[in-house]
Amino acid sequence: MSATDMTHDAAVELSGLRVAFGKTQVVDGVDLRLDRGQALALIGESGSGKSVTLRSILRLFPAGRSRIEGRISAAGKDVLALDKRALADFRGGDVSMIFQEPLLAFDPVYTVGRQITESIQRHEKISAQDARARALALFERVRIPSPERRLDNYPHEMSGGMRQRAMIALALACRPQVLLADEPTTALDATVQIQVLLLLRELQRDLGLSIVIVTHDLGAAVEVADRIAVMYAGKIVEVGTARQVVRDPHHPYTIGLLRSRAEGAMDKGSRLQTIPGSPPDLANRPPGCPFAPRCFLAEDRCRREMPPVGTISPGHDVACWRTEEASAAYRAGPQPVAVEMA
Ligand SMILES: Nc1ncnc2c1ncn2[C@@H]1O[C@H](COP(=O)(O)OP(=O)(O)O)[C@@H](O)[C@H]1O
Ligand SMILES: [Mg+2]
Repeated sequence: MSATDMTHDAAVELSGLRVAFGKTQVVDGVDLRLDRGQALALIGESGSGKSVTLRSILRLFPAGRSRIEGRISAAGKDVLALDKRALADFRGGDVSMIFQEPLLAFDPVYTVGRQITESIQRHEKISAQDARARALALFERVRIPSPERRLDNYPHEMSGGMRQRAMIALALACRPQVLLADEPTTALDATVQIQVLLLLRELQRDLGLSIVIVTHDLGAAVEVADRIAVMYAGKIVEVGTARQVVRDPHHPYTIGLLRSRAEGAMDKGSRLQTIPGSPPDLANRPPGCPFAPRCFLAEDRCRREMPPVGTISPGHDVACWRTEEASAAYRAGPQPVAVEMA
């Protein structure tokens, strides 16, 4: 199949994605689809494989150390089939990425404006003057005050929030269709976090961007995303519209995330870390559902057999044997999430 035969209306489509480092399977059969112009949030505890999934869309891996299987389509390209040259154009030109730490995206010895104009000139035949004009327009777009002057700043001369905006400008410089964001606001303080999330939402709407945002902040996910995918031990366990997942969860892990948030502080940035027990050792994956050892509804079958993905309602898919019981327990009100003793 050629690179142009991929599904056309999806901005990103992962089919049977598996990523292993050595013998450790860290992404274990992910199917995920993001429609054009939409935002998808990928949530889950630390170590669940969110960043690896996101980075695989740009094939950002240490060469030779990882094994990738499955299909990745993004911005109409068959990502795993791209040669070196096509991959360089694809990165930034079709799909670009922002990170938690903007200092890593910028070279400390050049001004931010110069780095943005050079990125544009690497991808397009355009004069330095026109590239500078586009960089200025981008700074205005991401609402950096005194944009003309700020283009001549070195990265360290900007505040954290401003640097985050400058990194978004850099990511958008070559007009990508898809923006990948890995915990883009985690390092910022609460009020700045909200501003950056609202900016991403606005850019997505105004530019028709498609966004995948990785976060372990459920509040951030609800703020910015049309759809939410919940990841556990390298698998998507629940996916649906933000409303379906947050208001009508059917997977005990999602319920645990929601409860841990409700029990803890409701402020922005509260972490999804308080479900009792800990994620499985991915190098020694237990048979059956990986969440079973921590699940308040687990029964024998859960420990033997991985549940298939089932559809709760259109667009709302869950991989659990006991979705009805989970949903009923959630609707019945707060209930502690018990840790099952081995
Ligand atoms: N380059 C790498 N080499 C080996 N293992 C890795 C590498 N990157 C991530 N991992 C492992 O893959 C698993 C998933 O990591 P990651 O995707 O970063 O989790 P998350 O972003 O959900 O916190 C973790 O167990 C992590 O240690
Ligand atoms: Mg991560």
